[in-house]
Amino acid sequence: MLLFLVAGYESTSTALTWFIHHISKHPRVQAKIKAELGDNKNSRLSIEQLDSLVYLDSVIDEVLRFVPPTNGAARTLTSDDQLPESGVQLYRGDQVFIPFYNLTRDKRYWKIDPELFYPERFDGEDKSHDAYALIPFGGGHRQCIGQDLARLELKAIAARLMQRVTFGDGGSEVNAGGHKQQFTIVPKHIGVTIKYD
Ligand code: HEM
Repeated sequence: MLLFLVAGYESTSTALTWFIHHISKHPRVQAKIKAELGDNKNSRLSIEQLDSLVYLDSVIDEVLRFVPPTNGAARTLTSDDQLPESGVQLYRGDQVFIPFYNLTRDKRYWKIDPELFYPERFDGEDKSHDAYALIPFGGGHRQCIGQDLARLELKAIAARLMQRVTFGDGGSEVNAGGHKQQFTIVPKHIGVTIKYD
């Protein structure tokens, strides 16, 4: 139960912080999320209404791709093995680190420049990207047990915020972004303006 709290708190709040940072830098994306919400300005959103917000799904995927909150996962080899291309020999007991961040920024796996924050990629040229190029919740048997809850939380909070406020860029210095490694990768400088719609 303690791990649920530790693993579930900063990871999700970090993703939400990055969401606010990115949309403050990309008014076009913010306007599109608001357009998808339509006239639904105040009322609570049902699960069906949340499910219908497909552009918001792409934005959340892009937030998780641009800076995966957890920078990677480790695995311990249960038997000797070799890396497929380089032939590097690995031994039982070795620890291998899988760097999510490097995968999401590797040009070999993305048709649209991975350095661009561009949610539309998931409905376009990068729709059928390599499944392992984007694994913010890890993979296999030990992948994140809370990922559905995290996605629901992120989507519900993002949608409710977008019903009410518009985030603006607080300026190149205070809202510079940058990375800081805590338990997760958090933005170093985030400063936005908030306008009530
Ligand atoms: C955006 C939010 C989150 C991210 C990015 C995230 C990411 C991850 C990652 C990368 C792992 C390791 C997966 C692997 O080794 O393959 C993990 C494990 C885990 N996560 Fe999350 N997580 C998030 C939210 C949550 C939430 C909300 C909970 C619980 C309420 C949670 C509970 C756990 C637990 C218990 C594990 C360990 C699972 C195991 O070892 O079998 N996480 N998470």
